[in-house]
Amino acid sequence: MAENISVEEYLQQIKHATAIIESRIGGSSELKHPRVMIICGSGLGGIADTLDPSSIIEISYSEIPGFKTSTVQGHAGKLVFGLIGANKVPVMCMVGRLHFYEGYTFQQTTFPVRVASKIGVSTVIVTNAAGGINAEYKAGELMLIEDHINFPGLAGWHPLRGPNMEEFGPRFQPLSDAYDHELRKLFVTVAKDELKLTRKINEGTYFFAAGPTFESRAEVRLIRTLGGDAVGMSTVPEVIVARHCGLRVLALSLITNEGVGEKPPSALHENPKALDEGMASHDEVLETANEASKDVQKIIESVVNKL
Ligand code: HPA
Repeated sequence: MAENISVEEYLQQIKHATAIIESRIGGSSELKHPRVMIICGSGLGGIADTLDPSSIIEISYSEIPGFKTSTVQGHAGKLVFGLIGANKVPVMCMVGRLHFYEGYTFQQTTFPVRVASKIGVSTVIVTNAAGGINAEYKAGELMLIEDHINFPGLAGWHPLRGPNMEEFGPRFQPLSDAYDHELRKLFVTVAKDELKLTRKINEGTYFFAAGPTFESRAEVRLIRTLGGDAVGMSTVPEVIVARHCGLRVLALSLITNEGVGEKPPSALHENPKALDEGMASHDEVLETANEASKDVQKIIESVVNKL
């Protein structure tokens, strides 16, 4: 649990934040019971633009006690409540997520998920920008997350470390069913059969690296050997906490760049490639995410309308 505050204090913060949010959305009969939380990844904040503009209520993180602010370019830092699609499903979008590499504890980065569960959300849709590790993946493709590797977690940096908060979930949370099979099937049906999107959809394992550096070449090879298909600096803590809260999870990576796993050019031999070829950059991540975000928005809108 909280690494720097007590469980009691943390629970109190959750209660307080929930009350503040409920007081802001409570006046709207349509919005006061959001069913789905959507966490928008890098460059994917446009998902909130699919909400019916006349229904929207925005709350900046800085107005909510316990919420930290997002410090990353491409992450705004606000909750957007609104209705989505023909069925006017009430949702809560997190535009701008909080990362461990920003210096926050996992308790702080996952705080919004706990609050969402108290507000009554039953499903969380998590999106992210990720680097392709599987050699077949190309930038611009999607990867439906079927499983994850919590690399920091295996070494003890785990969001459920500390006293268990029984009111949310069990001490030993199973994760073999973390990524809801029905929701994944629905996602594929919507993308392929209904919307007939041509963007390739892969299904694979997300490897959580704490960041903030992009991976070295040797790390890309290590992650590949360990079974990661894509790598990113988010999502897994939120998914673990969502499962601890009993929420259903659908998670999606947008492959924004391809990890470079070949050895660097040698100093001993003539080299066909330059050292900076394929080098990852945050600008490239945002650009690719922007291009693909329209497809992601369409899929999410339709999926949510079928929940
Ligand atoms: N590595 C880690 N996180 C990322 C990457 C990457 O290559 N691309 C987007 N997020």
